[in-house]
Amino acid sequence: MKAMKFFSACLFLLPFVSCTQVATNKGDAATEKRVEALLSKMTLEEKIGQMNQISSYGNIEDMSSLIKKGEVGSILNEIDPVRINALQRVAIEESRLGIPLLMARDVIHGFKTIFPIPLGQAASFNPQVAKDGARVAAIEASSVGIRWTFAPMIDIARDPRWGRIAEGCGEDTYLTSVMGAAMVEGFQGDSLNNPTSIAACPKHFVGYGAAEGGRDYNSTFIPERRLRNVYLPPFEAATKAGAATFMTSFNDNDGVPSTGNTFILKDVLRGEWGFDGLVVTDWASASEMISHGFAADPKEAAMKAVNAGVDMEMVSYTFVKELPELVKEGKVKESTIDEAVRNILRIKYRLGLFDNPYVDEKLSSTVMYAPSHLEAAKQAAVESAILLKNDKGILPLQSSVKTVAVVGPMANAPYEQLGTWVFDGEKNRTQTPLNAIKEMVGDKLQVIYEPGLAYSREKNPAGVAKAASAASRADVILAFVGEESILSGEAHCLADLDLQGDQKALIAALAKTGKPVVTVVMAGRPLTIGKEVEESAAVLYSFHPGTMGGPALADLLWGKAVPSGKTPVTFPKMVGQIPVYYAHNNTGRPATRNEVLLNDIAVEAGQTSLGCTSFYMDAGFDPLFPFGYGLSYTTFKYSNVKLSSAALKKNEVLTVTFDLENTGKYEGTEVAQLYVQDKVGSVTRPVKELKRFARVTLKPGEKKSVSFELPISELAFWNIDMAKVVEPGDFALWVASDSQSGENVFFKVID
Ligand code: BGC
Repeated sequence: MKAMKFFSACLFLLPFVSCTQVATNKGDAATEKRVEALLSKMTLEEKIGQMNQISSYGNIEDMSSLIKKGEVGSILNEIDPVRINALQRVAIEESRLGIPLLMARDVIHGFKTIFPIPLGQAASFNPQVAKDGARVAAIEASSVGIRWTFAPMIDIARDPRWGRIAEGCGEDTYLTSVMGAAMVEGFQGDSLNNPTSIAACPKHFVGYGAAEGGRDYNSTFIPERRLRNVYLPPFEAATKAGAATFMTSFNDNDGVPSTGNTFILKDVLRGEWGFDGLVVTDWASASEMISHGFAADPKEAAMKAVNAGVDMEMVSYTFVKELPELVKEGKVKESTIDEAVRNILRIKYRLGLFDNPYVDEKLSSTVMYAPSHLEAAKQAAVESAILLKNDKGILPLQSSVKTVAVVGPMANAPYEQLGTWVFDGEKNRTQTPLNAIKEMVGDKLQVIYEPGLAYSREKNPAGVAKAASAASRADVILAFVGEESILSGEAHCLADLDLQGDQKALIAALAKTGKPVVTVVMAGRPLTIGKEVEESAAVLYSFHPGTMGGPALADLLWGKAVPSGKTPVTFPKMVGQIPVYYAHNNTGRPATRNEVLLNDIAVEAGQTSLGCTSFYMDAGFDPLFPFGYGLSYTTFKYSNVKLSSAALKKNEVLTVTFDLENTGKYEGTEVAQLYVQDKVGSVTRPVKELKRFARVTLKPGEKKSVSFELPISELAFWNIDMAKVVEPGDFALWVASDSQSGENVFFKVID
């Protein structure tokens, strides 16, 4: 982990393109030769068997009989190394061709050592956090024999009602591209055939995060230009980073389910990006094309999926059951099957499974929760926390604070702070804020603990009153609120994003005590907490911070660490503002922020739209917190922004230099952000787009000159002719602390 930290220090200023590495031995002739030799020996049934992924049934005998017949290519959800080896032995020793199984699991933000949810990791704006987290997850998961994870999830999500927003990197294409590529590199390590590497699986390809109304599995309607400008780039970046596999998504886009979408799978993924890895369906998403009304029966579903470019089917058995006949009837060509099997075998060879199929059954006991893993998870939790408010510098807590009240349902909820998609992390290894605070300050300070509510959805006015009364004896109240793990994640969408249960009442009652309230929110998404922000002296948003959330938060509260996280997604004031995201296009009547709001409108006011702009009468235009927002215990000043040239050609590189100064009292890290606006295009362009960011650490009073290199080619977009081009013209540029601040400077792109 030391090496990782060192690397982290030198990496952050590099342009994104240079940190992509291909880790898959692409084009390795020896591997291709082995693939062809094996393929030539396989019967049609054995080929189709490789295309079948089953979920473990528990009973080894039942699975073994299928494996012996060569009917299984991969198993999902086995985590016991002894059983994994036993199943692998059947494949190697008892099936005709001895083809190893590929063992898969959803290892999303940690295996045993749980890191912050991916949305939290994205708040760090630190690809090294994502890479370290994925590396630790790979080391732990591979120690039991898992060699394939279904991550990273890199769906752009601009609707926090959608529960799966927790699993991705938020609303921004560039941030998601950088973090997603870093996760791929972390999971896959230096080389796929290193036994600690696990194959990554960028998902869900594609557009799943744009589910209408934020309801999971819902249809999407993303036109090709938006698909290419916003939703596809993170997947292209993951391909460049060497991702070995891809997963199709559940949604249909404009009527075509991804699992049957030739355009995205063949034209874009294989054709344009040259992907030669394995494409798996999402859970039963082949047979779900029947519910979509896109296939009449399992046979048509299998035909459409395979002909569209899917290689392996997750759990719905339409391939094994239907493909033999489909091939006989000529509806699926055997050459199509061969191509799918090549893609599968290629990954198995690259993972080294043919040469080294078994796992050391004793290894895992020495690997899980290693001190370096816990340290990395703590650092990730520190960097993921966002300081949203800090009135009168209440944080960090000073030595004058002698008594603290620890309140709220998330203060000591070891399971709930782990977040969604945690199958293997154990709550008895979680360090909660209450325990960490007691450990850190328990002998110096009086800690009053009165949760008020047992869990986030609880309604308990008596509990609220009891907590408020106990808290009134403290100098400062620390209120830990948020969402239980189950309130976000797959199929866990919400129409109301206020704090659940009596948590709003709890914060209100605590505020009434007159004691300063420091609210810490642990959640899977941005919540509509405007009122609680007003009632609190300080707000720290940690998302679900994982195993080491407690010590990380204790360090932040007492100033052993300084917050540096930034919002990876816009925080709405109220649900009715959704979708609300910073990189929107302008209307013909852009908001001016001088809008007339509900209470300013006279009774019987005359009907007119003249002078009006795009906003809500009850919510105005701005969100609660913009994208990229986050405070520190110190303050930073940007000045002296200089461009290497005011006019650049398309093949040139713009250097942006600026001074960043720590103008406060604490050493701190600022995430400096570079935004660009293409002023006029052949189609309307976003008002701003993030193009670079850097974490810069400064001592009090220290000033550094920072520079970003931006190749003009990265200003390309899919234009009116559906060509990816840089259009000459005027551009505005901001170097800023968030997506809403900063003075703009201008440059031109010339032919
Ligand atoms: C999810 C995927 C996941 C798969 C396997 C599906 O329900 O959408 O993200 O990888 O299950 O567990």
